[in-house]
Amino acid sequence: MSAVLAPVFRQPSPAEIFDPRHYADVRKPLAEASTLPPWAYTSEEFYRREVETIWMKEWNFFGRADRIPKPGDYFAVDFAGVPIIVIRGKDHEVRAFSNSCRHRGAAMLRGDGNCNAIRCPYHSWAYDFEGKLIVAPEMEETQGFRMEDFPLIPLKLELWAGFIFINFDPNSGPLKDHLVDLPEVLSSYHFEKMKCVRLKEYVLESNWKIYVENAMEAYHVSTVHRSTLSRQKGVFPTVVPAKGQWMALHKEHEGTRALLTGDTGFPRIPTLSGPAAKGSYYPLIFPSTMFGCTTDCMWWLELQPLSASKTKLVVGSCFPEEVTQREDFEEVVQRYYKRWDISIPEDNDISALQQIGLASPLSKPGRLSHAEPLVHVFNNWVLDRVLGAH
Ligand code: FES
Ligand SMILES: [Fe+2]
Repeated sequence: MSAVLAPVFRQPSPAEIFDPRHYADVRKPLAEASTLPPWAYTSEEFYRREVETIWMKEWNFFGRADRIPKPGDYFAVDFAGVPIIVIRGKDHEVRAFSNSCRHRGAAMLRGDGNCNAIRCPYHSWAYDFEGKLIVAPEMEETQGFRMEDFPLIPLKLELWAGFIFINFDPNSGPLKDHLVDLPEVLSSYHFEKMKCVRLKEYVLESNWKIYVENAMEAYHVSTVHRSTLSRQKGVFPTVVPAKGQWMALHKEHEGTRALLTGDTGFPRIPTLSGPAAKGSYYPLIFPSTMFGCTTDCMWWLELQPLSASKTKLVVGSCFPEEVTQREDFEEVVQRYYKRWDISIPEDNDISALQQIGLASPLSKPGRLSHAEPLVHVFNNWVLDRVLGAH
């Protein structure tokens, strides 16, 4: 076993990869800790274990319910290898189902749209918005076949302030046990009165953890964003105490953080109180959703894992509903889009470079600065799950 743990330039075999001794230095306090080993960002075995112990167990974020305002409105997503449908029913409830036909398994809906029923494109079986099988042609001679035995597989879905969360584990606890104190900490933004005005997607050439780590430290800002978001060097955000499955940075500042320097935008959200009135919150809702909550709007960065080295990023932009009704909204909001469309690709590009470097067989664990405390917390949260139950 000593050979396994020797600091040589080689990845452990899949059988050795989950030996907790490989991660002993990640488990140390921040000032003594190392980063996760490079294979945690490149190995398909590690990724598969994350799918099993993280995305199939935790509450996952799927944007806003205002994306599907009318009965029959739907969107389909392939999340961590699981195709799902999110659809609004005639009773206005939002529900989620496995996007896999109960006949011979075809995926039925793709993208966004509105439908009268969920109809399979293969042999025209059809399901209502509650997942009940309502049409199954040519099945009269099939012995013992009963329509009621073949509904779509439902998934647990809960809403918080207009945000959709889905859990693939039927035995999971309620969403409130995941978020705990986050709704209270962010209550003065009144997300439930906001509207999502733009969704933008990117495919990242990086492991999902690289992107989370980037979003949860401001150490890189004066380098990666030096010509766009550059801020005072050495003044880092503070860590917000959290009780739920989230963690956050808070940064005090004047004005908004959603515009480039020199641009003016919409008025402040009038209800802001406490730290929300004095700056911006940057929470990560575990496992893979980051919010930017500033004084006039909020945006989210939603990660959908595709493989060990590829991740879909969905960026959503939300403003208070009354702001979206202003006559000058479309004109002024372009300044916000400009800021996101410059700064987000900067993070995407640096993440791709990190992935290239980490994929090198010569790459080894690094050390963390005092300005990266949440990278350390996040790495340990991942290890708690990936190593935990096995
Ligand atoms: S696979 Fe869906 S109707 Fe046959
Ligand atoms: Fe950044």
